[in-house]
Amino acid sequence: MKKIVLISVAFATVLLACKTTKAPTAAPPAPAPLDCAATAYTYEKDIRPIMEQNCTGCHNENMKAGYNFYDIGSVKKAAVNGYLLGTIKHQSGYDQMPPNGWPLDQPTINKIECWINTGMK
Ligand code: HEC
Repeated sequence: MKKIVLISVAFATVLLACKTTKAPTAAPPAPAPLDCAATAYTYEKDIRPIMEQNCTGCHNENMKAGYNFYDIGSVKKAAVNGYLLGTIKHQSGYDQMPPNGWPLDQPTINKIECWINTGMK
């Protein structure tokens, strides 16, 4: 019986030691500022693949919500009226896109925003 108590105490001590020696969690890195000058973003190279991977499953020839994102005209329309960034950045007053899933990651959102800011070529 004494042996069991001793073993338990030793085990608990080891557990405690593990817990207290755990490295403190670092603060998350600050988001990088949006630098659109670094890269020339184009629809063909950058935007079409994002749309086809994340959006055209729903927004296609059926014109869901009025958009066919296989068509650059639709992408530009949503860019100009503000819905493209509003929906993917989950801004208030916009439906969140893609719906029922993870938001696009920040580098992807940045790409789209830069493409819009630099004239949608
Ligand atoms: C699973 C299907 C689905 C996917 C994937 C999807 N959408 Fe949508 N989207 C919808 C539906 C449905 C609506 C209509 C509004 C609603 O019912 O939420 C909509 C509406 C919109 C609207 C109009 C919002 C408004 O308030 O009028 C925009 C812009 C939009 N989506 C952009 C996108 C973009 C950009 C992507 C890709 C990042 C995307 N969607 C992916 C289903 C989808």
